Amino acid sequence: MLPNFSGKAFLAPMAGVSDPALRLQCKKRGAGLVVTEFTNIHSIIAKEKELRENLHTIQEFIEFSDAERPISIQLFGSDLVALEQAAKIVEPFFDIIDYNMGCPAPHITKQMAGGALLQQTNLTKQIFNTLTNAVKKPVTLKIRSGVTDASRYLFKEIAQLAEDEGIEMITFHPRTVSQGYSGKADWTLIKELKEISNIPIVGNGDITTPEDAKSMIDNTECDYVMIGRGAMGNPFLFEQINDYLKTGSYQEYGWEDRLSSFFDYLDMASNFKIKFANIKSQAMRFTKGMVGGTKLRERIVHSRNIEDLKEVMKCCTNNFL
Ligand SMILES: Cc1cc2nc3c(=O)[nH]c(=O)nc-3n(C[C@H](O)[C@H](O)[C@H](O)COP(=O)(O)O)c2cc1C
Repeated sequence: MLPNFSGKAFLAPMAGVSDPALRLQCKKRGAGLVVTEFTNIHSIIAKEKELRENLHTIQEFIEFSDAERPISIQLFGSDLVALEQAAKIVEPFFDIIDYNMGCPAPHITKQMAGGALLQQTNLTKQIFNTLTNAVKKPVTLKIRSGVTDASRYLFKEIAQLAEDEGIEMITFHPRTVSQGYSGKADWTLIKELKEISNIPIVGNGDITTPEDAKSMIDNTECDYVMIGRGAMGNPFLFEQINDYLKTGSYQEYGWEDRLSSFFDYLDMASNFKIKFANIKSQAMRFTKGMVGGTKLRERIVHSRNIEDLKEVMKCCTNNFL
């Protein structure tokens, strides 16, 4: 059974972005669910073996904190034996096991994983069956609409299979694999999926404001919304969506708030082993769109350690006070 979600807006899995500190920050700001970035089933198996030999658990490899709960882990990879093994390894630690069938990156689709699976109905059915039999925790799915424009309705068949095999919720990003991130997500397809589904549907794609979130819910009747790029450097969005859905209004946040929330991010990040390069990229996202941001980002790029980075960001904050 799915856990209770405290809010209707979820943080999307984003490789290199949805790290444990950003997830925690979004959770504290009202995200109803957070999802880890996608993780290769073969790396989980290899890492777990290595960690177990040193009396550590998989939590050293996929870092998270209990304050993020409910937390979902996203897996990718289509080797059924490895999938079963990886799902069993992560099950004790996570509340939901999510399966990726949307990634458009060629290095993933070439291994018959991610979005490429949308056109492999037999294998897909076996994947769902393997996962739902391997674990007792709820299994969910994240899909795109199809592979090419000609196959943009594949999602209907896949969603039906998923439901039949016991998948408990589907996140739908209505772009095709070949579209990548171009064009617009076709929200009318979310409505079509919702109409044929008996499990919760999470609508995803191009939400950057509370108004967008409400509009997606109103127009598609999806149960939840998931936000990726709109939440980058902007954890306030979850609180704003929750307030807007409840009261019709929300608090605006300025650049000072954005910058100060980056320091909150840094505090949280100090508890995890996040690569410095990734932390710098987060700093860039927290300053995106800011007046003078280009110059600031040059200084961010050249910062060599956390102390440097803090100095750069502090100088910038002082300019706002
Ligand atoms: C940098 C980046 C990394 C992503 N990594 C993942 C991932 O690991 N797993 C996944 O299912 N989707 C991934 N996505 C897709 C997002 O979860 C989401 O479906 C997509 O960005 C559309 O939502 P948005 O318009 O709110 O960004 C990624 C997207 C971005 C921009």
